[in-house]
Amino acid sequence: MQINPYLFILPRTPGQIVWNYKDHVQYELDLEYSHRLAQLISNPDSFDSRNTIDTHLLKAEILTAKKIDSPTWGWDDLSKIFHIGTQNIPNEHVPQNTHEWTRQYLQHCNEVLAKQAPDCRRSGNAPTELIELPAPCALTHSLNDALVQRKTCRSFTGTCILLSDVSSLLYLSLGYLNERHSDHGGSPPNLSARRSSPSGGGLNACEGFVLVQNVAGLEPGIYAYHSAEHALSRVNPLPDSALGQLLSGQHFINDLPLGLFITARFDRLWWKYGHSRAYRMAFVEAGHLSQTFQLVATALGMNTWMTGAFADTQVETLLNLEGCAEQPLFFVGCGESDGQAMCQEMRDLLDQGEHS
Ligand SMILES: Cc1cc2nc3c(=O)[nH]c(=O)nc-3n(C[C@H](O)[C@H](O)[C@H](O)COP(=O)(O)O)c2cc1C
Repeated sequence: MQINPYLFILPRTPGQIVWNYKDHVQYELDLEYSHRLAQLISNPDSFDSRNTIDTHLLKAEILTAKKIDSPTWGWDDLSKIFHIGTQNIPNEHVPQNTHEWTRQYLQHCNEVLAKQAPDCRRSGNAPTELIELPAPCALTHSLNDALVQRKTCRSFTGTCILLSDVSSLLYLSLGYLNERHSDHGGSPPNLSARRSSPSGGGLNACEGFVLVQNVAGLEPGIYAYHSAEHALSRVNPLPDSALGQLLSGQHFINDLPLGLFITARFDRLWWKYGHSRAYRMAFVEAGHLSQTFQLVATALGMNTWMTGAFADTQVETLLNLEGCAEQPLFFVGCGESDGQAMCQEMRDLLDQGEHS
């Protein structure tokens, strides 16, 4: 007898949940079943076909008579559980044509809309005072140039950024576009806002917090960006420790004048999507926003840098998001740079290596 290789077990008093994450099936075991399963995990050959519990576990495919193929994953168990656990989500009825799809999708949307929508405001960050940004300017740089010039730099001069550039940057990457107000194609009012980047389910589940280190006319600190109002509200002063301390020791980035923490409002995703597969979409959406931010910053004559490696808990504290359904996913920053992909310290180290 074999133990199904695609199980994980969650303790949930008074029982334990045995979860077959590949087949999307869960069983709750009481103490007797849990105890017997523990014995079988320790020694699968102790399977006894006269034992009712054993036959139940076999029927539930927690045990299997035949070895189940489990190809080498090559990565850690948590990533395997998440990746496989969010694959092949069962769909009771796959629409057979566009008519069926339309009816099914509309029904889903109506069911979602019948539920209480998450608050538009972000928990933990009710703004005290909105700081209006100047009107954004249209870019004159070509898309072609922005695409070929965008590159990751790790050496910034710290030079001050104009507030008008910050305004254009935020509007064109995260703002709800006035130009698309009439373009919502029948979407309900709270789902009609459109950005320059696509958004999963039109939910605009991603948001942004701006890190201001050197912007003309803005006190250094952390600000929440309000996409609908194209405005900022102050959240916190700059952290006591250098920026690099929060970003996994990447201290070469301390001179970035401006940064953006891209967050995801998981409550908005949960509202429409009942499965953790939507967690994948939060990161995809953050990636779209990050790329747009980088292209706009490049078009404004700046260089960019990004990271997903940060001290989550410290960043949550900085953004006033502890314990919230809104969580930071990614950081992207910009400013004047000497255009180097490597920081000076790395270049010096490599030079020493060359000359030793
Ligand atoms: C998802 C993602 C995470 C990244 N994380 C880091 C990072 O933590 N630190 C860093 O210096 N660069 C980071 N980068 C930048 C990459 O190293 C960079 O994009 C890559 O070397 C290619 O260079 P290019 O952006 O100039 O084309 C990241 C890029 C992406 C897309």
